[in-house]
Amino acid sequence: MRRAIYPGSFDPVTNGHLDIIERGCKLFDEIIISILVNPAKQPFFTVEERKEMLAEVMQNINHGNCKLSVDSFSGLLVHYAVSRQADLIVRGIRAISDYEYELQMALMNRRLEPNIETVFMMPAESYSYVSSRLVKEVFQLGGTVEGLVPPLVENRMKDKLTKK
Ligand code: PNS
Repeated sequence: MRRAIYPGSFDPVTNGHLDIIERGCKLFDEIIISILVNPAKQPFFTVEERKEMLAEVMQNINHGNCKLSVDSFSGLLVHYAVSRQADLIVRGIRAISDYEYELQMALMNRRLEPNIETVFMMPAESYSYVSSRLVKEVFQLGGTVEGLVPPLVENRMKDKLTKK
């Protein structure tokens, strides 16, 4: 039984994240997608909105026998992972530029909690340039994000802008 935590900001969830989850489902028995509650950051979507969107779009994922759930956490990731009795942390790596930061985090997490492994996964090349940060920037400046995020997320982003 392999239980993985897939942590992140998911502000918002992109097709790259979903691609990682789908690939992870081929390797793990359970993946808990966990949103970091970060009071220091001003997010586009609230944690509750992000959770709701993730839960909805996850229904379209080809997950086989892998159990998927959405959660949130605050504090140290490894403390949370231990509290959820997870075996490993999954992180997506798009390019070499991601690697340095991810390696630092993975090694720090290992020092803090040697029993939890970090597994890096690569998304499809077509998502190698997709990030939540760029999606938000492009969207806020009037560009299209079609194909980069699920249609539900695109619609929620439009709703957000019209309500502002
Ligand atoms: O999607 P992101 O913003 O790249 O995710 C970063 C995340 C949430 C994985 C990272 O910031 C994190 O684990 N934060 C929790 C606090 C923590 O454990 N910090 C020490 C990391 S070595």
